[in-house]
Amino acid sequence: MNAEALINTARKLVADDKGLLAMDESNPTCNKRFAKLGIPQTMEARRAYRELIVTTPGLGECISGAILFDETIHQQKKDGTPFVKVITGAGIIPGIKVDIGAKAMAGHPGEKITEGLDGLRNRLAEYFQMGAHFAKWRAVIAVGEDIPSRGCIEANAQALARYAALCQEAGLVPIVEPEVLMDGVHALERCRVVTEEVLRNMFIQFNCQRVLLEGMILKPNMVLPGLTCPTQKSVDEVADVTVRSLLRAVPAAVPGIAFLSGGQSAELASARLNAMNVRFKSRLPWALAFSFARAIQQPALELWHGKEANVNAAQQALLHRARCNRAARRGEYTAGMEGK
Ligand code: 13P
Repeated sequence: MNAEALINTARKLVADDKGLLAMDESNPTCNKRFAKLGIPQTMEARRAYRELIVTTPGLGECISGAILFDETIHQQKKDGTPFVKVITGAGIIPGIKVDIGAKAMAGHPGEKITEGLDGLRNRLAEYFQMGAHFAKWRAVIAVGEDIPSRGCIEANAQALARYAALCQEAGLVPIVEPEVLMDGVHALERCRVVTEEVLRNMFIQFNCQRVLLEGMILKPNMVLPGLTCPTQKSVDEVADVTVRSLLRAVPAAVPGIAFLSGGQSAELASARLNAMNVRFKSRLPWALAFSFARAIQQPALELWHGKEANVNAAQQALLHRARCNRAARRGEYTAGMEGK
């Protein structure tokens, strides 16, 4: 393992107040989002959309790394330039999603285990050859009356640790994503307890599997009340509870925490990240950054609508969200930036 190279890449991913752009939707997920807007669910439409993203002028000012899906890392611009080359040319580090999805977990109704460990060593070597410098794996933890179970938390934690160790062996920085879902009626406190439990279990497994903490990025959920919980919380309350939980559960050796958005609106995700940096930045051992998919892409996707004529407007919307999130890293995001 080349520890120095891993540590350098991990640090670069959270340097200069930039963050990651997750554009690694699997084909079924991407198609579902296209279908909602009446965009054709074809390989060419997916390619055209990803070309729009990676050719957005100025994206590298705010984005340090882009997470691709397997189909996308093999694709090119219309003029034949490989996406990996376009991304690298924009000063953005290419990365890849390497899990193959969260599947129903045997004996655990309502819970999921993420698959993709078989053959992973070979796949990682191929992606490294193709120019990827980091790799993401998402575990999914649902919250309900009797879940998550210990079996689900432990199995996902161990899978994350085995994937992370394999990534580091291959020279790829693991972007470790244990997502506690927002769906449900549960209160903020329940999300806090579950999030801390998941993170504690995960770091125990990381220790067992000898994962180099300095050479990884954590991609967690923010600590939020369930979407249908009658008691929603203010931006500052969410910021406080989230950061306090992370301070308890995430070792200081981890260089960066880059949040997923998980279905929050784009503006709320920026406002909450901003509040965390305003209230805690000077006291944190790690950088607090972003690795959003929906909260950075959704406005652009809606404007594009599958039409060539809308590409410029969609790129402006994408750049705007990237700038808002960079401002949030500095604690300088304001509602005024939204032009409302
Ligand atoms: P969201 O920001 O839309 O939650 O997506 C992040 C991600 O990478 C999901 O795996």
